[in-house]
Amino acid sequence: MAVETTFSIIKPNAMKKNAIGAIINKFESNGLKIAAAKLVQLERSKAEEFYAEHKERPFFGELVDFMTSAPVMLMALEGENAIAKNREIMGATNPAEAAEGTIRKEFGDNVGENAVHGSDSAASAERELALFFEKREICNH
Ligand code: GTP
Ligand code: MG
Repeated sequence: MAVETTFSIIKPNAMKKNAIGAIINKFESNGLKIAAAKLVQLERSKAEEFYAEHKERPFFGELVDFMTSAPVMLMALEGENAIAKNREIMGATNPAEAAEGTIRKEFGDNVGENAVHGSDSAASAERELALFFEKREICNH
Protein backbone atom coordinates (compact mmCIF):
# COMPACT_ATOMS: atom_id res chain seq x y z
CA MET A 1 0.00 0.00 0.00
CA ALA A 2 1.06 3.53 -0.62
CA VAL A 3 0.14 6.93 0.70
CA GLU A 4 -2.32 8.54 -1.72
CA THR A 5 -4.23 11.81 -1.92
CA THR A 6 -7.86 11.78 -3.02
CA PHE A 7 -10.52 14.40 -3.63
CA SER A 8 -13.69 14.73 -1.55
CA ILE A 9 -16.72 17.00 -1.64
CA ILE A 10 -19.26 17.46 1.16
CA LYS A 11 -22.38 18.06 -0.94
CA PRO A 12 -25.10 20.71 -0.30
CA ASN A 13 -27.55 18.39 1.50
CA ALA A 14 -24.93 17.36 4.08
CA MET A 15 -23.78 20.98 4.48
CA LYS A 16 -27.38 21.93 5.30
CA LYS A 17 -27.44 19.26 8.03
CA ASN A 18 -24.47 20.87 9.81
CA ALA A 19 -22.60 17.62 9.25
CA ILE A 20 -19.10 18.87 8.35
CA GLY A 21 -17.71 17.87 11.75
CA ALA A 22 -19.35 14.44 11.78
CA ILE A 23 -18.13 13.69 8.26
CA ILE A 24 -14.57 14.83 8.90
CA ASN A 25 -14.60 12.72 12.05
CA LYS A 26 -15.33 9.65 9.90
CA PHE A 27 -12.31 10.43 7.74
CA GLU A 28 -9.96 11.16 10.64
CA SER A 29 -11.07 8.21 12.75
CA ASN A 30 -10.40 5.95 9.76
CA GLY A 31 -6.85 7.20 9.26
CA LEU A 32 -7.36 9.85 6.58
CA LYS A 33 -5.92 13.33 7.11
CA ILE A 34 -7.25 16.61 5.73
CA ALA A 35 -4.51 17.94 3.44
CA ALA A 36 -6.54 20.84 2.00
CA ALA A 37 -10.01 22.25 2.51
CA LYS A 38 -12.18 25.11 1.32
CA LEU A 39 -15.82 26.16 1.32
CA VAL A 40 -17.21 27.42 -1.98
CA GLN A 41 -20.44 27.68 -3.91
CA LEU A 42 -19.60 26.08 -7.25
CA GLU A 43 -20.06 27.95 -10.52
CA ARG A 44 -22.29 26.09 -12.96
CA SER A 45 -19.52 25.83 -15.57
CA LYS A 46 -17.13 24.32 -13.01
CA ALA A 47 -19.69 21.75 -11.84
CA GLU A 48 -20.36 20.80 -15.47
CA GLU A 49 -16.65 20.38 -16.11
CA PHE A 50 -16.23 18.32 -12.94
CA TYR A 51 -19.08 15.96 -13.91
CA ALA A 52 -18.26 15.94 -17.68
CA GLU A 53 -18.21 12.11 -17.76
CA HIS A 54 -21.94 12.14 -16.90
CA LYS A 55 -23.06 14.81 -19.39
CA GLU A 56 -25.10 12.37 -21.52
CA ARG A 57 -26.89 10.90 -18.49
CA PRO A 58 -30.56 11.86 -17.96
CA PHE A 59 -29.84 13.20 -14.47
CA PHE A 60 -26.98 15.52 -15.53
CA GLY A 61 -28.99 18.77 -15.30
CA GLU A 62 -30.43 17.79 -11.94
CA LEU A 63 -26.97 16.84 -10.66
CA VAL A 64 -25.48 20.20 -11.66
CA ASP A 65 -28.50 22.08 -10.23
CA PHE A 66 -28.02 20.29 -6.92
CA MET A 67 -24.25 20.73 -6.72
CA THR A 68 -24.54 24.48 -7.37
CA SER A 69 -27.56 25.02 -5.08
CA ALA A 70 -25.63 25.85 -1.91
CA PRO A 71 -22.05 25.90 -0.60
CA VAL A 72 -19.98 22.72 -0.62
CA MET A 73 -16.74 21.77 1.12
CA LEU A 74 -13.87 20.69 -1.10
CA MET A 75 -11.11 18.60 0.45
CA ALA A 76 -7.92 16.72 -0.29
CA LEU A 77 -7.69 13.60 1.90
CA GLU A 78 -4.37 11.89 2.46
CA GLY A 79 -3.52 8.45 3.79
CA GLU A 80 -2.59 4.85 3.09
CA ASN A 81 -4.79 3.62 0.25
CA ALA A 82 -6.80 6.85 0.54
CA ILE A 83 -8.76 6.49 -2.72
CA ALA A 84 -10.31 3.10 -1.94
CA LYS A 85 -10.53 3.81 1.79
CA ASN A 86 -12.53 7.00 1.17
CA ARG A 87 -14.96 5.10 -1.11
CA GLU A 88 -15.42 2.55 1.67
CA ILE A 89 -16.09 5.23 4.32
CA MET A 90 -18.58 6.93 1.94
CA GLY A 91 -20.65 3.82 1.19
CA ALA A 92 -22.69 2.93 -1.90
CA THR A 93 -23.80 5.69 -4.31
CA ASN A 94 -27.45 5.07 -3.37
CA PRO A 95 -27.81 5.72 0.39
CA ALA A 96 -30.57 3.08 0.54
CA GLU A 97 -27.89 0.50 -0.38
CA ALA A 98 -25.10 1.93 1.79
CA ALA A 99 -23.71 -0.14 4.69
CA GLU A 100 -24.31 0.81 8.34
CA GLY A 101 -21.81 3.35 9.62
CA THR A 102 -21.02 4.83 6.20
CA ILE A 103 -21.41 8.55 5.49
CA ARG A 104 -24.05 8.01 2.81
CA LYS A 105 -26.10 5.76 5.11
CA GLU A 106 -26.08 8.42 7.84
CA PHE A 107 -26.28 11.64 5.83
CA GLY A 108 -27.49 10.70 2.32
CA ASP A 109 -31.10 11.42 1.35
CA ASN A 110 -31.34 9.75 -2.09
CA VAL A 111 -29.10 8.72 -5.01
CA GLY A 112 -28.70 12.37 -6.09
CA GLU A 113 -28.41 13.98 -2.66
CA ASN A 114 -25.94 11.44 -1.36
CA ALA A 115 -23.89 13.67 0.98
CA VAL A 116 -20.38 13.20 -0.40
CA HIS A 117 -18.28 12.75 -3.51
CA GLY A 118 -15.03 10.80 -3.61
CA SER A 119 -12.64 10.15 -6.50
CA ASP A 120 -13.04 6.65 -7.93
CA SER A 121 -9.48 6.05 -9.23
CA ALA A 122 -5.96 7.48 -9.16
CA ALA A 123 -6.56 9.18 -12.51
CA SER A 124 -9.83 10.75 -11.27
CA ALA A 125 -8.17 11.90 -8.05
CA GLU A 126 -5.41 13.63 -9.99
CA ARG A 127 -7.84 15.31 -12.41
CA GLU A 128 -10.29 16.39 -9.69
CA LEU A 129 -7.63 17.72 -7.29
CA ALA A 130 -6.10 19.76 -10.12
CA LEU A 131 -9.52 21.19 -11.00
CA PHE A 132 -10.00 22.69 -7.54
CA PHE A 133 -6.61 23.06 -5.82
CA GLU A 134 -3.23 24.51 -6.67
CA LYS A 135 -0.42 22.07 -5.86
CA ARG A 136 0.85 24.47 -3.16
CA GLU A 137 -2.55 24.44 -1.42
CA ILE A 138 -2.24 20.71 -0.65
CA CYS A 139 -0.36 20.28 2.61
CA ASN A 140 0.87 16.71 2.73
CA HIS A 141 1.56 15.49 6.25
P1 GTP B 1 -19.50 10.38 -6.80
O1 GTP B 1 -18.52 10.10 -5.72
O2 GTP B 1 -20.39 11.55 -6.49
O3 GTP B 1 -18.89 10.45 -8.17
O4 GTP B 1 -20.49 9.14 -6.78
P2 GTP B 1 -20.28 7.71 -7.36
O5 GTP B 1 -18.94 7.57 -8.01
O6 GTP B 1 -20.64 6.77 -6.27
O7 GTP B 1 -21.40 7.68 -8.47
P3 GTP B 1 -21.33 8.05 -10.04
O8 GTP B 1 -19.99 8.58 -10.38
O9 GTP B 1 -21.88 6.91 -10.79
O10 GTP B 1 -22.39 9.22 -10.10
C1 GTP B 1 -21.99 10.54 -9.80
C2 GTP B 1 -23.08 11.22 -9.03
O11 GTP B 1 -24.20 11.38 -9.87
C3 GTP B 1 -23.61 10.45 -7.82
O12 GTP B 1 -22.88 10.64 -6.65
C4 GTP B 1 -24.97 11.07 -7.67
O13 GTP B 1 -24.89 12.28 -6.95
C5 GTP B 1 -25.36 11.37 -9.09
N1 GTP B 1 -26.29 10.36 -9.59
C6 GTP B 1 -26.02 9.08 -9.93
N2 GTP B 1 -27.15 8.46 -10.35
C7 GTP B 1 -28.14 9.39 -10.23
C8 GTP B 1 -29.54 9.38 -10.51
O14 GTP B 1 -30.12 8.38 -10.93
N3 GTP B 1 -30.23 10.55 -10.26
C9 GTP B 1 -29.61 11.68 -9.81
N4 GTP B 1 -30.33 12.79 -9.59
N5 GTP B 1 -28.30 11.72 -9.55
C10 GTP B 1 -27.58 10.59 -9.75
MG1 MG C 1 -18.13 8.93 -9.46
